[in-house]
Amino acid sequence: MEEFIERILITEEDIQKRVRELGSAITRDYQGTELRVVGVLRGAFIFMADLVRNIRVPLSVDFMSISSYGDECETSGIVRILKDLDKPITGRHVLIVEDIVDTGLTLRHLKEVLSTRGPASLRICALLSKPERRVVQDLRIDYLGFEIPNCFVVGYGLDYAERYRNYPFIFVLRPEYYSDAQREGKGQGG
Ligand code: IMP
Repeated sequence: MEEFIERILITEEDIQKRVRELGSAITRDYQGTELRVVGVLRGAFIFMADLVRNIRVPLSVDFMSISSYGDECETSGIVRILKDLDKPITGRHVLIVEDIVDTGLTLRHLKEVLSTRGPASLRICALLSKPERRVVQDLRIDYLGFEIPNCFVVGYGLDYAERYRNYPFIFVLRPEYYSDAQREGKGQGG
């Protein structure tokens, strides 16, 4: 095992099994409709690539890139849109795909922004959730992969300082590989 891995939290097999289950549930729920899958860059790109390959209704994809204001994000929940959607979502069934829900502020803001554009429906699919960290209590995650404890995780699209996205499992870094701020459990976005 690589020297920077403290422990593997979710194996590749478990992720793939869960992604298939999520794909089946989404396929069932959206039967007879057409879906617009919106990925939140960059963390969701690997999850979204696997997820859409397990969905069997007609769909198109689009992406948004956002950045939080670091610590301010925890109080204000304001996120900056770095890259907006390429296509309008008016009248569309939209599924937002996110890597991880931590405080929930990012997704609450994103949901507010997108709901003003008149989608036919707007749901959230997230791979991971840290319920202990939640600030937004009424955020509904319609499709969730796994609940995890309050620890900072990387792999399968999630990064620390842009690294480790390329590993096919979710893992915790050894403490010497990240700074004190990250160890508290909060990511730096993306
Ligand atoms: P929230 O607004 O607090 O829910 O933050 C969500 C964002 O924080 C995610 O999209 C990630 O970019 C980042 N994040 C939160 N926890 C982690 C983690 O454990 N690893 C990597 N990124 C994280």
